[in-house]
Amino acid sequence: MLNFSFANPTKIHFGEQQIAKIKNEIPADANVLVTYGGGSIKSNGVYDQVVEALNEHTWFEFAGIEPNPSYQTCMKAVSVVKEKHIDFILAVGGGSVIDGSKFIAAAANYDGEPWDILAKGGIIKSAIALGAVLTLPATGSESNGNSVVSNLESHDKLPFASPLVLPKFAVLDPVVTYSLPERQVANGIVDAFVHAMEQYLTYDVGAKLQDRFAEGILMTLIEEGPKAFSDPDNYQVRANVMWSATMALNGLIGAGVPQDWATHMLGHEMTAVYGLDHAQTLAIVLPRMMAEQKETKRGKILQYADRVLGLDISDEEQAIDQAIAKTEAFFHSVNMPTRLSDYGLGAEVADKIVTQLERHGMTALGEREQVTLDKSRAILLASV
Ligand code: NZQ
Ligand code: ZN
Repeated sequence: MLNFSFANPTKIHFGEQQIAKIKNEIPADANVLVTYGGGSIKSNGVYDQVVEALNEHTWFEFAGIEPNPSYQTCMKAVSVVKEKHIDFILAVGGGSVIDGSKFIAAAANYDGEPWDILAKGGIIKSAIALGAVLTLPATGSESNGNSVVSNLESHDKLPFASPLVLPKFAVLDPVVTYSLPERQVANGIVDAFVHAMEQYLTYDVGAKLQDRFAEGILMTLIEEGPKAFSDPDNYQVRANVMWSATMALNGLIGAGVPQDWATHMLGHEMTAVYGLDHAQTLAIVLPRMMAEQKETKRGKILQYADRVLGLDISDEEQAIDQAIAKTEAFFHSVNMPTRLSDYGLGAEVADKIVTQLERHGMTALGEREQVTLDKSRAILLASV
């Protein structure tokens, strides 16, 4: 097992009607900014629950944080934070609202040009306190320190991470996910699944417990994910998907193990250029990434085939091919397309994305830094 330091201080309130708990989580004298997206929270009752819970607080709101939150929109919110002397941000939404709010929280206190936080790894020395009400289980953003923000002018989609933007608390009420469109349900399941794979499907370092945690998340998503479509009002199904997504990227399964993230890096570029949803890009790339990297990942792919998929691994080559095919079939089982051509895209994507990767210095990706630009190109060409 590799050395690690682990702390996850986000307090989780999980279950029905838990939004009311935010009343006691936010300091009574705080100036609160409630941030949200395009308005789904107004039609599914979440906004009303938040308003009720904040009835003794002083609060303002900032709406319109878009999917793949933009630097441009976030900077408008930074102005509101400064003007209203905000000292607590409550993000109500999916990964985009939470990620955008993390950037707002850091940018408001940043000495210098906030874009540098993303483009130049600018050091964050302080951030406004943040809490989250999660409405879309997918990213794990509700209890991690990561954020991904897009610049609409330059077509950059760049991540930053800081423990200072870890939410102080997060409310996870599975009931609020009933209103998700099917496309977003699929996005969430696939994103969480690929997060577990990025931290699991690398090479063995003897981290038995982390492997079993990751396998548990993968198996839960494979078993419960399709039920979110066939039985969408089933609370237990929604609860299991929601908790799996949080656990997939809250630091626990990734502690002490090598991590990959090459699929995500290609995916972020595809969203920046073509506007595909984050998880749509992952479902396209991951099966081809597994095939391209099958030698370096051999041991773990076989372990995944055996323990997660229950395949016979006596013929290793056949088992690896089946594991890749079954992974793609799982994406299809949650109505997620897995080919560029499903979105009217073709081989032209390869050069375009490779140019972006090169521009961002992503020339040696993956747990062994073996995913060169040539390999990324091959992966994308195989994904048409
Ligand atoms: O904007 P509203 O009206 O709220 O609608 C949203 C949005 O249109 C809608 N939605 C959310 N909850 C809903 C709902 N509609 C009905 N009922 C509900 N309960 O869903 C749409 C998509 O929301 P978004 O927040 O964009 O989705 P997601 O949670 O998948 O977040 C994706 C973003 O997170 C980043 C991605 O790159 C992308 O920008 N990621 C963040 C990570 C992190 N912080 O650790 C890691 C991930 O790998 C990922 O990169
Ligand atoms: Zn992701």
